[in-house]
Amino acid sequence: MRMTKKVTAMALASMMALSLAGCGSSSTTATTAVATEAAKETTAAATEAAKEAATTAAAAAATTDVADKKVGISIYKFDDNFMTLYRTELVRYLTEDLGFKAENVVVQDGKGDQAEQTNQIQNFITQGVDVLIINLVQSSAAEQVTDQCAAANIPVVFINREPDATEEDRWAADGIAATYVGADARQSGKYQGEIVLATDNKGDFNGDGKVSYVMVMGDPENVDAKYRTQYSIEALTEGGMEVEKLDEQRGDWDQAKGQEIVANALTAHGDAVEVVFCNNDAMALGALQAIETAGRKVGEDILLLGVDALTEALQNVQDGKMTGTVFNDHIGQSHAAAEIAGKMA
Ligand code: GAL
Repeated sequence: MRMTKKVTAMALASMMALSLAGCGSSSTTATTAVATEAAKETTAAATEAAKEAATTAAAAAATTDVADKKVGISIYKFDDNFMTLYRTELVRYLTEDLGFKAENVVVQDGKGDQAEQTNQIQNFITQGVDVLIINLVQSSAAEQVTDQCAAANIPVVFINREPDATEEDRWAADGIAATYVGADARQSGKYQGEIVLATDNKGDFNGDGKVSYVMVMGDPENVDAKYRTQYSIEALTEGGMEVEKLDEQRGDWDQAKGQEIVANALTAHGDAVEVVFCNNDAMALGALQAIETAGRKVGEDILLLGVDALTEALQNVQDGKMTGTVFNDHIGQSHAAAEIAGKMA
């Protein structure tokens, strides 16, 4: 499933229209290579609308079947902006659109602790849930969790943190009722790079022929961190720019860590920092605080990129305080996960 879109101030209005048209889509491709190309967006919106109609029909058909089915959900941690949007929409869609009873949808906070989450899953199994939706704390725990569920004959839908290919191959080979729903993080990385390429100086403020950047990475337990890091820079080099990495640090998707990392990088490298890439918006919001404290101005002497399209980040893009963000479609992803879970249950 691929659900990302570039967001710059110019593209914002049309992007919002498209994202609304995309509500209710399941395993869709909602991409816009150049966000300002109205024609492409119209086509994409039409496709999304058709898919939405199909999804609504599927949802209506599912309603009668799932009324007594129980869903156990565990989120890697509640204290995460994007996963909070995702979780809220997931529960809303399961109960309001797919017909699960509210008391049959239970959500637990993994608190960033795999042992705690594994216990929660065991409790769900003991309580006899019909299906599990799991946002793993550690992707590497997928094999153990899958075996736990398979032994109890309970299907599992993994979301957001993708298990490795070997594990996914095993599900297919052994006929295990497990699946994964997520967005393609390669695309969000690539779009970040393309947003930089679309600016006047392509991120080279001092005209030395290279883009000197700071990379603020998410938690490497989510492949999104690896791919966004890699593909944002690859887009720049493929676009003909030379790059210089001044710093790369792990910020675990966290705003306070994003602020600290960028504050340190600006102290160490000063004006040499031309672009700050953040693997998500929460860290970009932190980075913006550090940029402002250092007296730098986004768009004038530095660029700042995020991913997720959180409301606050969209506002910053509109106000010129962030160069861009990339839409991470929590609506499409949560709906797809809910529908697959409904079918598996
Ligand atoms: C990413 C998202 C981040 C964070 C992370 C959690 O897809 O962009 O903001 O929520 O998932 O695994």
